[in-house]
Amino acid sequence: MTIPQAAPPRRIARFREEIDRAIASVLGGGTYILGQSVADFEAAFATSAGLPHGIGVASGTEALALALRALGIGPGDEVIAPALTFAGTAQAILQCGALPRLVDVDPVTRCIDPTAVSAAIGPRTAAILPVHLFGHAADMPALMAIAERRGLAVVEDCAQSHGAHLDGRPLGSFGHAAAYSFYPTKNLGCVGDGGAILTRDAALAERLRALRQYGFSSPERVCEGLGFNSRLDEIQAAILLALLPHLNAGNAERRAIAVRYRESLSLPGLALPPDATGSIYHQFAITHPERDRLMRHLAEAGIGTAVHYAPGLHRHPAFQEATAGALPVTDALAATLLSLPIQPEIAAEAPEAVADALRTFAPEAQA
Ligand SMILES: Cc1ncc(COP(=O)(O)O)c(C=O)c1O
Repeated sequence: MTIPQAAPPRRIARFREEIDRAIASVLGGGTYILGQSVADFEAAFATSAGLPHGIGVASGTEALALALRALGIGPGDEVIAPALTFAGTAQAILQCGALPRLVDVDPVTRCIDPTAVSAAIGPRTAAILPVHLFGHAADMPALMAIAERRGLAVVEDCAQSHGAHLDGRPLGSFGHAAAYSFYPTKNLGCVGDGGAILTRDAALAERLRALRQYGFSSPERVCEGLGFNSRLDEIQAAILLALLPHLNAGNAERRAIAVRYRESLSLPGLALPPDATGSIYHQFAITHPERDRLMRHLAEAGIGTAVHYAPGLHRHPAFQEATAGALPVTDALAATLLSLPIQPEIAAEAPEAVADALRTFAPEAQA
């Protein structure tokens, strides 16, 4: 593939000297678990989103599950989430003992549809879990209004929205807690698994610090209740601390590539992602009715693409209990979405290369 869909090692190569120094400082330091790098990264990352508390954990899925648990959600509860998302979103709900209730997404933002959320609320509903899919904002003002009216908790899934905004306000700062993944392909990614929860609620932050480490109270290390071993490790935290100052510039590079895609792509039936100023384009996901054939055509031209996500989660056996009724927008998007290369280290030439390839893509009748 001349232009892969994503290539985390190229970002590591770009910042290799800073990363090597960060790793060396951990190796030469005295603490390998929950030391200074984790504390410094938690503080810096929380500040970058305008929030006072950050808790580093083992992955994005763990961040979601622990946030739900810390908000008191468990067996007997339902959590409303979009059907168009990565499986980890819904698995986190199952992990804390609650049931996901999967609803449809908005056709423009591709994020959870507030009208569908209102319609799905029942006596067991305890929380809403919006996902800022592909770096675009869910309609947080509408969702927070519903949550406040119905007394529901809100956990924002920010796994794809590091540094994104909605009307000038950081995503992650709307709900009661925000969960982040630092999986290597993310806009802020490490070289293994990692995650974090951000919140403005000091008591919630304290419960999360206990939950991630055996249920220990601090500083006595007495078990107050159930706990897990779900910590962000020092080496990953040191790498994230080295990459964090580059996050906003990387997001700006992605936005610039998105502008060039908008200017250069043209094909009957092609639809582009929403054009929102605060998006950080974790993916640049187009739709086309002949998605699979287009994907093969781009692969033949040396351009890697990916499908995020098909089928919708409501069609996975694990979540079949999780929805009532049809989810037509999710199904339509799952059949047509195609993510083009957008990672700055690989996608500089991608808009022109994709545009060239589209010029030789014949509609099915002529293929
Ligand atoms: C929207 C979304 N939610 C949750 C997750 C889970 O994160 P992790 O893979 O770090 O567990 C991911 C990414 O992998 C994601 O993209």
